[in-house]
Amino acid sequence: MKPSAPDFQWEYAPAPEARDHAKIKPQYDLFINGKWQKPASKTYFDTISPSTEQKLSEVAEANEKDVNAAIAAAKKAYNTYWKKLTGADRAKYIFRIARVMQERARELAVIESLDGGKPIRESRDFDVPTAANHFFYYAGWADKLNYAFPNRRLQPLGVAAQIIPWNFPLLMAAWKIAPALATGNTVVLKPAESTPLTALKLAEIIEEADLPPGVVNIITGFGKTGAAMVNHPDVQKIAFTGSTDVGKHIQKAVAGTTKKITLELGGKAANIVFDDAPINQAVEGIVNGIFFNQGHVCCAGSRLFVQEGVAAEVIQKLKNRMNTLIVGDPLDKNTDIGAINSKEQLDRIKAYLKIGVEEGLELFQSTCTLPKKGFFCKPTLFIGAAQSSRVVQEEIFGPVLTIQTFRTIEEVIEKANNIPYGLSAGVWTDKGSKIFNLTTKMRAGVVWANTYNKFDPTSPFGGYKESGFGREGGLHGLYPYLKF
Ligand code: NAI
Ligand code: MG
Repeated sequence: MKPSAPDFQWEYAPAPEARDHAKIKPQYDLFINGKWQKPASKTYFDTISPSTEQKLSEVAEANEKDVNAAIAAAKKAYNTYWKKLTGADRAKYIFRIARVMQERARELAVIESLDGGKPIRESRDFDVPTAANHFFYYAGWADKLNYAFPNRRLQPLGVAAQIIPWNFPLLMAAWKIAPALATGNTVVLKPAESTPLTALKLAEIIEEADLPPGVVNIITGFGKTGAAMVNHPDVQKIAFTGSTDVGKHIQKAVAGTTKKITLELGGKAANIVFDDAPINQAVEGIVNGIFFNQGHVCCAGSRLFVQEGVAAEVIQKLKNRMNTLIVGDPLDKNTDIGAINSKEQLDRIKAYLKIGVEEGLELFQSTCTLPKKGFFCKPTLFIGAAQSSRVVQEEIFGPVLTIQTFRTIEEVIEKANNIPYGLSAGVWTDKGSKIFNLTTKMRAGVVWANTYNKFDPTSPFGGYKESGFGREGGLHGLYPYLKF
């Protein structure tokens, strides 16, 4: 056996997840009014696997006519059927979706990893079970809305247009669809262009769950399709997760209308380690916060703040741990970091790596070797970053962590908040008083203490400032879908 050196990496034999049970059709149409319909546009586009650059399937590109058809189907289903159902009856359908998702969990996990590039460990242990849990959780609320909001006259809004990104394709679909259905709305959902497959699988599940036609419609396409959804006059509610730029665009597009919107946009979370923190645990939390899932997480702990006295130790331990991370095949059960979602995103990350170096920051990358094909990025540190660095101020959305040091709690709160975003934060300390001091002063929707990236359907999630507004999850997640 080789001696254990700080940067020693065990050799693991490949442990690929079987993929023969994951059925991907060569071509997908649009799921409108409970049927698979050919696109009026007559055009299809490819979705590839970012880890091999191979084509997985081709999906329909919905044009304005297709969007109109989907929204008309959702409107009809709302008026003729869905809004008249009792909460208990809506719940039965939502429970059914959750159960079929559980039954098909393996298939969903494999397709999520193939289409988006995230490690199977993540999609199998986090994305798919958490998505099913969201449906279970909101199914539970459907017949209890009068208890959630006592003495209020509640009404659904109507048709919800939901536009989601590529980092958690199935989970974001669940976050959007489950509360909308529980509150009596109908849905048109568009997944991101690089990761449409699990949303289309969800359409199959919705078919299997026998939802009335038109209650959920799933259409595929690019930004233009999303814009047509946003601008449609029969849409009463828009739920968007994605870039701050597109979020601002949507806000402008709905100004002066009565459409309700929730936006969940970018982030640049501070992960703060005090000198009394359990260091080994914190290092694991830092790694989990930024490197797992390739840093494609809006709440990723992408800015590390370490108190001066422990900075050297934390940085050394972090480097050692980074050298053990396995980057490669998303379908291998040992993989820690999978593929970057697309060539465009990899180019964006590479541009930021260049900017950081040009800004004079010390760069550290793990010693791993990257696969020859596919889009991959080594886990990266920028040490000694200044508050004004672009790599500190701007969202990179990749496995890149900036490191700053601090002396006092006041200083770190000031620096952590001095950013256009405010989605999440982390704090590592032995002292409860420091945790509470920080949680009350951080302008961030979620603050994790001595842990990171923990999610639960019962807990609301959402941002401050340019990270957006509105909450998803928990009781709070019902509000944006109801009229009072
Ligand atoms: P994006 O915001 O363009 O894409 C998100 C979704 O919006 C996709 O479904 C897309 O088709 C749709 N979309 C694009 N333009 C639209 C428009 N004008 N109207 C309506 N819908 C539209 O994000 P993109 O370009 O894939 O990523 C760019 C950056 O955004 C990333 O580098 C990252 O910094 C950030 N991002 C943040 C996410 C988050 O979870 N908050 C998720 C994805 C990206
Ligand atoms: Mg893809």
